[in-house]
Amino acid sequence: MIVIGVLVSGNGSNLQAIIDNIKSGNLNAKIGCVISDNQNALALKKAKESGVPAYYICPGSGKTYLDTERELEYLECLRKHKVKLVCLAGFMRILHSEFLQAFKDRIINIHPALLPSFQGLHAQRQAFDYGVKIAGATVHFVDEGVDAGPIIIQRAVTVKDNDTEEELSKRILKVEHQIYSEAIQLFAEKKLKKIGRKIEIINPD
Ligand code: GAR
Repeated sequence: MIVIGVLVSGNGSNLQAIIDNIKSGNLNAKIGCVISDNQNALALKKAKESGVPAYYICPGSGKTYLDTERELEYLECLRKHKVKLVCLAGFMRILHSEFLQAFKDRIINIHPALLPSFQGLHAQRQAFDYGVKIAGATVHFVDEGVDAGPIIIQRAVTVKDNDTEEELSKRILKVEHQIYSEAIQLFAEKKLKKIGRKIEIINPD
């Protein structure tokens, strides 16, 4: 069974969906640890309530990245818990290339838009304000760019004529909760084959 580490900064609804999918048997994985850069993150509380080892590790003084020596603490914690796949679930920091190298091709992220559209912060608002008719969510491998690595799964959400940003965001989040666990399961089953920047799913069910 694959051991995953989940990095979080906020509410932790994606983390909760992963926990729930493991409990219900829809996802064959174990959460080795949850790490947050925000000690007040609701995600930490959710992890602890579910009995998952959960840590706040100070990110250092930078706003966008983890400080280099702090990043080493994150890596140490993930290794200590024998993590094989790192899942960013609302983790709002960019990782240095040293971190990416340490878990090469083993870091994935969920983003609330159909990438490469609407990268970065407030993706749902960007899509809503742009006036797209189809929004959605993406799970992708993490590379040096922001919300830029090879795409594993995308799922679309229709924007309704009378939608609000809040309603649309809620429907996107629901889809996020499905596709993140699906992507982890595919990774765990070694069904993801990387060809250039494309990810082929081997023997899809
Ligand atoms: C989710 O919508 C996730 O896609 C987004 O943060 C939210 C976290 O919610 N991540 C990004 O925008 C990354 N670029 P959660 O804490 O309830 O899972």
